[in-house]
Formats: sequence, structure tokens, C-alpha cells
Amino acid sequence: MLKKIKVNQLRKGMYINDLKCGWLNHPFALNRFKLEKQSDIGKIIAAGAKIIEIDTNKGLDVFVEKRIDENKKLRQVVDQRTDNKPKKVTALEEMSQARIAFAQAGEFIADMMANVKMGQHIELEQVNPVINKLSLSILRNPNALLGLSRIRTMDVYTFEHSVSFSILMMAFAKSMGLSEKIICEVGIGGLLHDIGKTLTPDKILNKPGKLTDDEFVIMKEHVVHSRKILEKTNGLSQISMDIAAQHHEKYDGNGYPLGLKGDQISRYGQMSAIVDVYDALTADRCYHKGKEPSEVLKLLVKWSGAHFNPSLVREFIQSVGIYPAGSLVMLSNQHLAKVIDINENMLKPVVEVFINAKTRSYIPRKLIDLAQFDAIKILKVESYQKWNIEV
Ligand code: C2E
Ligand code: SIN
Ligand code: SIN
Ligand code: FE
Repeated sequence: MLKKIKVNQLRKGMYINDLKCGWLNHPFALNRFKLEKQSDIGKIIAAGAKIIEIDTNKGLDVFVEKRIDENKKLRQVVDQRTDNKPKKVTALEEMSQARIAFAQAGEFIADMMANVKMGQHIELEQVNPVINKLSLSILRNPNALLGLSRIRTMDVYTFEHSVSFSILMMAFAKSMGLSEKIICEVGIGGLLHDIGKTLTPDKILNKPGKLTDDEFVIMKEHVVHSRKILEKTNGLSQISMDIAAQHHEKYDGNGYPLGLKGDQISRYGQMSAIVDVYDALTADRCYHKGKEPSEVLKLLVKWSGAHFNPSLVREFIQSVGIYPAGSLVMLSNQHLAKVIDINENMLKPVVEVFINAKTRSYIPRKLIDLAQFDAIKILKVESYQKWNIEV
């Protein structure tokens, strides 16, 4: 099918049927060709094209419309539920759906950041289906996605950080009893909060060592870039904007870009500062090794008051648990286990045992609900690195 689209809807893999429509002087040899390179989109934008004709039989269709259809389907599924509330399930039951939502969100943000780099605008219609999937999974059971968010395999930190930041924000909002609408809005703000890093020079963004003062000045501009990019996004909620604009403000007024203090920072801005540091410190960064979640939770408490709103730090710990999903723990029977799901009693999560620490050998994987086993306790948190285990 031939279709006229706006230039900001172009993406790699589309077949351009007519470049001439509304655009006479272009740098390409042909009027018809398949868009194979991201940089060609930049050239088309740079030449001032507004409307392009594509052939959807020969290449990809418009992103937006495909996602809207998917969105509608998802909404119908939601609306068909009699109680209209996602049914609670165990983390294990949720895992396969969570994996799909997680992978799609990662691909999506990578795509979106590449497009923003080329000067395209962000359309909320593109973001909504991704967030809907994540939020439904979180409403059914947040621990499946929370566990997955510890896995870091993509080589670009910003993509992974964006997805796990979004997941952590949504789980936080859910745990605070906020509405589904707000959960989605914090998810959107979370996914897009660092979009301004697309404008930060790679040399600085990926520098393996400590930044110089001058480099840090440039680094800090990513927040202003994020705000400016998102100001061009129609229909973005204030909550989503606050998260992007305020995630580096500190409770004592020593943050940036504005140096807002206490309740000058919105509740969502305050929440995002906590989540940002939690995720940055639990992950391997180009400039430091990741710490265990429980260790980072202690640091958050330590920095309460100065960097963070203390009561929100307590609420955040409630939302991820003392032993967050994905943590490696040593049990009192000398078995090593991975935390799968959190119980009402956070000290007694559901775990999967898989290593005998005494014999240092793998044992058949078995799920144990510690709430049902008084005799087995968690002795301490272990590091995956120390045991040389892939997360
Ligand atoms: P990021 O890596 O996502 O870190 C987000 C925030 O987590 C940081 O904001 C900081 O508040 C906290 N954080 C991260 N690592 C540490 C740490 O080792 N110790 C402490 N106390 N806090 C930590 P901040 O400082 O405003 O940095 C914003 C962004 O600037 C960082 O995002 C990162 O992309 C970059 N950055 C900051 N310092 C360095 C550095 O020394 N080297 C490089 N290559 N990048 C840095
Ligand atoms: C922070 O509040 O994020 C940093 C405080 C510190 O490094 O001691
Ligand atoms: C972790 O996420 O704590 C472990 C990271 C690793 O070394 O694989
Ligand atoms: Fe940031």
C-alpha cells in the first residue's frame, strides 16, 4: 500500500516510493529506495522534507499505527476483564509475559533514542503500548520485571537504565497505592528521563574514568536536553515531565539543574532521584562496579535527608523489599538461592535454590517459599561476582 507519512515517522526498513512529493532537491540518486541507514533519515530531515510517500508492501509500515493497533488490542483485553483489575499472579507465572514486555521496552528505547538523535520528535502513541505492557505486568506481580531489571546484557547502559528505571518507578508507584493512570505516567517519565543523553557527546557519556569538572558541566546538561525534547511531545503529563526534569535535584537543594529544595521538588521528582541512584549503583557502569541491592538500600538510608526525602526512601524499600527480586542469598542450610518473589514478611521471600555452598556444586533448582519453612532463614546477601555466576 502507498502511504503519505510525516518525515518524523520515517524509520529504517521503510521503502520510500516517492521522495519528490513536496520535495524536489534531495541528495539521493534515486527517488525510490529502501531506507537501510539511520543516517539517511537524517539527510532527508536535513533537506527539509515534510511529507514522504512509502510503500508498505515493500518495506516496513508506520511505527505509530502498528503500535496503536497493538495498544487498542491491549486496551480491549484490559476492558474485557470483568473486575477491570489485573489478576495477581506469582512472579514465576508472570515471568514469560514479563520477559516479552522487558525485551520490547529495550528495543523500543534503543530505537527511540536513535530517532531522537536524528531530530525526530517523540509521539506518545509510540510509548503508550510499551508502557501498557510493562504496567500490566507490574500490576499482576512487580517482582518478575524487577528481577529481570537486574540483568544487564546490552552494551549501552542508557537503554538498560531507562527500562529498569521505568520498571522501578512503576513498582514504587504501585506500592504507594497510586492509580493505574499515575503508574503509567511515571513509567513514561521513567523510560524517557535520560533521553537528553542522546545529545551528550559519547566520549563523555562512556568515559571509563572519573569526569573532569568541565566534562561534568556538559554531562549535567542532559537534564535540560531531556526537558526540551519532551516539551515538544504533545500530551505528555506533568508527572512524566517532572521525572525527567527533576531526577537530579537533591532534597537539600544541592542538586541540578535548578537546585530545588524539599517540597519545591515534586513528589515524583523526589521519587525519581531515589530510583536513579539505586539503579546507577546496582548496575555495572563504565566508571564503577555494581553493588548488591541490599548494600545500596543502606546507602540510600544513609543519604536520606541530604539527597533524598527520608519517608520516600522508606517507601521505596517497601516496594523492592529488603532482599529485592534477583538478589543472591545464603540460606541457613548452606544453600545459595536467588530471590524470586517477595512475601508480606520481606525477610521471608520465595527463593530458588541452585547451589550447595559447602560442596560448591550446582544442585537441582527448587523453589522454596521461606514463609512456609520456619527452619530455613536467610543468613546474608551474596555477590554474584564473588561466586562467578552470571545473573
Ligand atoms: P548515572 O551513572 O546514571 O548516575 C546517576 C546518579 O547516581 C549520579 O548522578 C549520582 O547521584 C549517583 N551515583 C552514581 N554512581 C555513584 C557513585 O559511585 N557514588 C555516589 N555517591 N553516587 C553515585 P550524578 O552524579 O549527577 O551523575 C549523572 C550522570 O553523570 C551519571 O549517571 C553518569 O552518566 C555521569 N557521571 C557521573 N560521574 C561520572 C564519572 O565519574 N565518570 C563517568 N564516566 N560518568 C559519570
Ligand atoms: C549522593 O548523595 O548521591 C552522594 C553522597 C555521597 O557521595 O556521599
Ligand atoms: C550483580 O548484578 O550484582 C552481578 C553483576 C555481575 O557481576 O554479573
Ligand atoms: Fe540522569
